[in-house]
Amino acid sequence: MSAQAQLATQTIHSALDVVLDTAYQGISADDWKKLFTTARQSGLEQFIVDLFAGKHINKSEDRPALHSALRNLSKTPVFINEVDVMPAVSEVWHRIKALCNKWVGVTDVIHIGIGGSDFGPRLAIEALAHVPSIESRGMRMHFLANIDTAELARILARAQPHSTRVIVVSKSFTTLETSMNAKAVVAWLKDSGCTKSQITHALYAVTANIAATKEFGVSEENIFPFWDWVGGRYSVWSAVGLPIALQYGFETFKQFLAGAEAMDLHFKNAPLEENLPVIMALSLLHQQEKHDIKAYAAIPYADALDWFPKWLQQLDMESNGKSVDRDGRPVKHSSPVVFGSAGSNAQHSYFQLFHQGTEIIPIDFIAVREPMSDRPEAVAHHRILLSNCLAQAQALANGKDDSNPNNVYPGKRPSNLLLLPKLNAFYLGALLALYENRTATLGALWNINSFDQPGVEYGKVLAKPIEKALASHQNDIQASADIDAVTAARINLLNSNN
Ligand code: F6P
Repeated sequence: MSAQAQLATQTIHSALDVVLDTAYQGISADDWKKLFTTARQSGLEQFIVDLFAGKHINKSEDRPALHSALRNLSKTPVFINEVDVMPAVSEVWHRIKALCNKWVGVTDVIHIGIGGSDFGPRLAIEALAHVPSIESRGMRMHFLANIDTAELARILARAQPHSTRVIVVSKSFTTLETSMNAKAVVAWLKDSGCTKSQITHALYAVTANIAATKEFGVSEENIFPFWDWVGGRYSVWSAVGLPIALQYGFETFKQFLAGAEAMDLHFKNAPLEENLPVIMALSLLHQQEKHDIKAYAAIPYADALDWFPKWLQQLDMESNGKSVDRDGRPVKHSSPVVFGSAGSNAQHSYFQLFHQGTEIIPIDFIAVREPMSDRPEAVAHHRILLSNCLAQAQALANGKDDSNPNNVYPGKRPSNLLLLPKLNAFYLGALLALYENRTATLGALWNINSFDQPGVEYGKVLAKPIEKALASHQNDIQASADIDAVTAARINLLNSNN
């Protein structure tokens, strides 16, 4: 057996002490070999080279996808149009560090942003909150995303206006939810007696649209730039991740980047047969082709990672939830539905369907070796958490027979086990980069552009005339080019209650 063929039969793989066990995927050595051949034939190896080299792999927008440069701590030059982007990236690092040292007496930070401008920092702030011995500035970090004022009201009821800082985060600076929430927070500062100069002092922004941000009223020295070659859902590594540095210190933010950088180097350099993101992508591809799966789940057995599946939903479904390939041709497969939440809670919710439902749903079980708090009960609780994780995977894989059909577990339900040594900034960074690279790999295998999101636009366009019709308070709206008969009737229903 060749060394490569031997590697293809292994089920335990590791990189940076992160272990991936695919034993319960039920994929034969022969099938693994075929999968690696498929990957090679799809041009995956060249794709990885092109991704890191800044080739315009985001074809529809004619841009590179260079989020890896944001965590390139070694500052190895990365060229776009023959210009090395690393000096601009490290200038932002310096500014983040300087800001960390500058903020004193800040009680509240209101981070305003949605989608990719929200999930990453929100997940990281939660995930690291209880890391034993983490240094925290202890500010109240509020994340304001929803246009629903319930979130705004909840935050403003707690924040102290005179010691609040506001960070408006929007790559485009045209997102309606974000700009309306930002206006509402500025109005609240004003109503709370803050002067114009105090508000200017309190207001920060992270964006790729500097002109619109200045026009909004953010002073130039408070604007942290990022670039159009960073996709929103891949942007937590930029100044979008400011809350991580502000709350836990610049060194922690650097560790977060370092974990991601290490995972990038693994993805870039490891042979496909040892490459964690590639193996995870191929296992999903296999289950999709074999069982025509429509969904998969990511279940972190770590309460601190409860936001991880939400972050992953945008990453996977906004990247790969598409019907046409890079050349506009229909695709056979694209992203399945992704969902999940923290275990063991999830077991008491939808695991019934995993075990006995008619759908086969592959699962990534994500576990952490070390307990995730320093409570005296931590070791005992953690052992139970881990035993639950292992038991669920075994039950799903092997099933159980019974004379009563109601008690039969069919088994053969595939899963991965991903084991992190500990949950700290480094391994959080590595975990997110692992999934980012897995998403990109899946896109390459399906021949999908994982870096645009044209499907999110149409609804935004239609919302405008509908909003106008709602604002008219008329209950005799007729169907038109913009509003069909069903929606017109719904508008009339809403307006008749006014
Ligand atoms: O509507 C989708 C989207 O464009 C996402 O891709 C993005 O992460 C989010 O909106 C927020 O966009 P922005 O950072 O430009 O406000």
